[in-house]
Amino acid sequence: MSENLKATLNIDGSIVELPVVVGSENEKGIDISTLRSKTGYVTVDPSFMNTAACYSKITFIDGEKGILRYRGIPIEDLVKLESFTQVAFLLLHGNLPTPQQRVQFSRLLNLNSMLHEDMRHFFDHLPRGAHPMHILSTMINAPAIFYPNVDLLSINEDIDLSSARLISTIRTMAAFAYKKNIGEPVVYPRHDLPYCANFLNMMFDSPVAPYEIKPEIVRILNILFILHADHEQNCSTTTVRTIGSAQVNLYATISAGISALSGPLHGGANQAVVEMLKQILADGGNVKKYVELAKDKNNPFRLMGFGHRVYKTYDPRAKIIREECHKLLAHMDIHDPLLDVARELEEYALTDPYFKERNLYPNVDFYTGIVYRALGIPENMFTVMFALARLPGWIAHWKEMIGGTTKIVRPRQIYIGQTPADRA
Ligand code: SDX
Repeated sequence: MSENLKATLNIDGSIVELPVVVGSENEKGIDISTLRSKTGYVTVDPSFMNTAACYSKITFIDGEKGILRYRGIPIEDLVKLESFTQVAFLLLHGNLPTPQQRVQFSRLLNLNSMLHEDMRHFFDHLPRGAHPMHILSTMINAPAIFYPNVDLLSINEDIDLSSARLISTIRTMAAFAYKKNIGEPVVYPRHDLPYCANFLNMMFDSPVAPYEIKPEIVRILNILFILHADHEQNCSTTTVRTIGSAQVNLYATISAGISALSGPLHGGANQAVVEMLKQILADGGNVKKYVELAKDKNNPFRLMGFGHRVYKTYDPRAKIIREECHKLLAHMDIHDPLLDVARELEEYALTDPYFKERNLYPNVDFYTGIVYRALGIPENMFTVMFALARLPGWIAHWKEMIGGTTKIVRPRQIYIGQTPADRA
């Protein structure tokens, strides 16, 4: 970081100098950590739209250029890797695994893929209609009950073991939640299947209809998980870093991240996109009507899967998913009318001045749901898929936060409420 760049503030006639920090990708920031002690002033930035909450070495995004890199490797290169677990290792440890490390990590994931049998019985008492995201955020906390020392140890405990246990069992929990939802017996993880194939098998295998694991389906699921694995300081990752700063154990911290992700403005958008496309299709496919609705400030309707806080150009992940979506549907000889609606909606919106002026483009959620539909994933599981994929990113940020000098997160505020004088 640069040692001599300074920002100068003139406050109440006094000149205050603040250091300027420059990141490895030339991002610049004004370090205001001494502002209050020097001036008595704080900065105000609701929703932190202009505020860097931390320094991080994990992911870099250039929203103007549509660049996304994990640990310095472009997302376009990472999606060519064979397995999501290689990217999970990269996020957790900073480098892609050597062949030996890859075998060890896979073995750790496999050994930790089973749920505690007593935990499995939790699923028997869940209401049939419970949303899988609510089940997941509840069950991910369960290890803290079954492994009581985790509260004390999960920060000091072998973090690799905690991480592997979470990354592996979240898959089992998700599949168990789905099987319970449809009234089928759960399918246990298998030692002979790699990560994504194992998940698909737990989801779709059954005693009366053995699931055929198809390489093309496994390939695209690995790509989807790689694309969703991290995205720097998004809402759910900021939640994880915030909760984790109070030294909450990893499982409870991740449970909070899952809850944040479930919001329709965040990870819940992939389910909301498909619901929107179905509504447009049912309404005669009138995309113009819905684009106009989305522009109407008096109407709460928004184009789900469009727009992004950081990307002011096409989300590089959406580009890849759109291409893979077309390839998959052609490969499976599926004609999904929702894809026709999505493409028409995208083409229409991208020519509309309202969307162009605001740099609103399709984001990662716009095409994802159409791919999941083709894979046979039910809509209420779409955001669960996002959570499975994002977990290594959340853990990487948690590790970076507890491994650093982070103090407990506690922002300031500007009070604008009543004063004793108002009440006098
Ligand atoms: C994810 O942060 C991340 O990195 C998240 C994520 C990740 O990987 O973790 O990328 C995953 O959450 C993707 C986003 C998924 N959400 C959606 O698709 C929901 C629809 N999108 C919008 O709600 C919105 O675009 C957000 C929430 C994504 C971003 O909102 P911002 O940054 O707060 O932008 P904004 O609401 O201030 O919008 C700026 C303008 C406004 O109009 P004006 O007040 O300037 O006239 O753009 C308009 C908004 O009304 N606008 C939209 C719109 N998104 C923004 N208008 C219509 N449809 C939309 N989708």
